[in-house]
Amino acid sequence: MKVKKPMLFILVCMISISGCVDSGTVEDEMTILEPSPEAATPFYEFNETDSYKEWSIWPGKGLMMDGTGVHGDYVSIYVSSNALASAEIGGSAMPYETMVVKEGFNADKELTGIYLMYKVEGFDPEHNDWFWAAYSPEGNVRSEGKVGGCISCHEGKKDVDYIFVNA
Ligand code: HEC
Repeated sequence: MKVKKPMLFILVCMISISGCVDSGTVEDEMTILEPSPEAATPFYEFNETDSYKEWSIWPGKGLMMDGTGVHGDYVSIYVSSNALASAEIGGSAMPYETMVVKEGFNADKELTGIYLMYKVEGFDPEHNDWFWAAYSPEGNVRSEGKVGGCISCHEGKKDVDYIFVNA
């Protein structure tokens, strides 16, 4: 169930006066109601703490392979280590905490964008719980969350867990 922030805030105010003062409490409750990572956090994780460059390229694919042009003329697709086994069997269902990171390059092979699919339990059950994010090469967030544009195109691959390279 989705609870709008202002409504929740009023509710907390009604229940407890201290809730009005401590807005941190409201934020905490939002997290519980609707798990929603912020795109900056996974970017930090897959860059700083567990660099995606150390992960495997999607099985059977190559570095800077030809892309369809949607995400660049050339693309590299990496899969987090916890999901490699599923990817190897063309996983129709990737495990929770899977991260698929894709780099897009222009015709001159310059990095133009970084794209993330991150499976978060309970995030978006109607669309296999994928969290979507697009970043500039420097890691600035261009879009994130249940991004309609990403979902509507990837939905064509619903049978293989929304992943184009899966089949
Ligand atoms: C118009 C269709 C389209 C849209 C919109 C789109 N994608 Fe993709 N995506 C693709 C295709 C096609 C591939 C396969 C690789 C390639 O050709 O670039 C792909 C591949 C990917 C991959 C690698 C895993 C896979 O599915 O193969 C990720 C990650 C990804 N896209 C993320 C995103 C994100 C995030 C968005 C929204 C910001 C998005 N995509 C929007 C078509 C789309």
